[in-house]
Amino acid sequence: MPHKTLTRLPGLADVHVHLRVPGGEHKEDFFTGTAAAVAGGFTTVLAMPNTTPPLVTRETLHTVQKQAQAEALCDVHFYAGASADHLDELPALAQETVGLKIYADQTYGLLRIDTLATLLRCFETWPRGKPIAMHAEGRTIAVGIGLAATYGQRVHFCHVSRADEIELIAAAKAHGLPVTCEVTPHHLFLTEADAARLGPWGDMRPRLATQADVDALWAHIDATIDCIATDHAPHTRAEKLGPDAPPGVPGLETALPLMLTAVAEGRLTLERLIELMAHNPRRIFGLPEQPETWIEVDLDATYTLSDEGLHTKCGWSPFSGMSVRGKVESVQLRGLPIFTEGVIIRSPERTRY
Ligand code: NCD
Ligand code: ZN
Ligand code: ZN
Ligand code: ZN
Repeated sequence: MPHKTLTRLPGLADVHVHLRVPGGEHKEDFFTGTAAAVAGGFTTVLAMPNTTPPLVTRETLHTVQKQAQAEALCDVHFYAGASADHLDELPALAQETVGLKIYADQTYGLLRIDTLATLLRCFETWPRGKPIAMHAEGRTIAVGIGLAATYGQRVHFCHVSRADEIELIAAAKAHGLPVTCEVTPHHLFLTEADAARLGPWGDMRPRLATQADVDALWAHIDATIDCIATDHAPHTRAEKLGPDAPPGVPGLETALPLMLTAVAEGRLTLERLIELMAHNPRRIFGLPEQPETWIEVDLDATYTLSDEGLHTKCGWSPFSGMSVRGKVESVQLRGLPIFTEGVIIRSPERTRY
């Protein structure tokens, strides 16, 4: 048998993941969510605060930090959530989190900032220099850019999905404004035609867009887009099939194979992929280095993505059935192997944080 050629890449960092702890452990937990991360080549994930209760107090932060220490397979850092009732917590939370998450538009969960007054208080209170990540769709992105300019505050736009939006962010950057953005694999590889085919399995916020929107995102892959982030947002099959199906799709285990397929097709370079999935996330969010940490990928492996063998608790993927080229073979974190040939390795001596 010919030997596989393995290529070593840095451990990837995903700046947008919903691990569902606390309160949504039937969808995902720290073990299953980070198993999915590691199987997907990620050694760092940033967890979103739209949990139950939401992560808006130090008390909740300290509880989940301890739990992640005990259960997570890779490094987990947390966002603080912005909520009108807990603005006083923000300065202290800023010390121990990677950024402030503001939900400025409707999506899954209860965290949302509805009034201008509260939005302004968030920008006044949050320390300069630490990113404010915004779920902002359409013209709300213009609000975020205006606030970044007015307060001299770094704003990171989550899951940018439309041509108008990415063009506006490009223009803001050309102006020298302190804004960054991420794009998800589902907005790069699926369109509204897929949404019609997939039904609830292709429903998320922002919704899938037109081919012209997808083309615009790809046109900005080398310049405007800072990070590929999954917005891994698992919901159970029963929830997706029930009434009022929640928006959100998992993505940790499919992001790298999809992006490596794009590399094989010449849509971006491998070097650029590493910028988007490892270096830029670490730089923007000031994430600690992980010494002796890498992943090995087989760039030539071709196969079909499938629900079989997924580590995420939800057990399904909107990408199942798609052919990809590029596979994660092994992952090493701080000198210890944690994943090889499809299997998670739990090693008690592993040190974290
Ligand atoms: C996310 C979720 O399920 O937590 N859903 C989604 O459709 N993206 C929330 C979010 O990221 O807006
Ligand atoms: Zn969102
Ligand atoms: Zn999200
Ligand atoms: Zn770099």
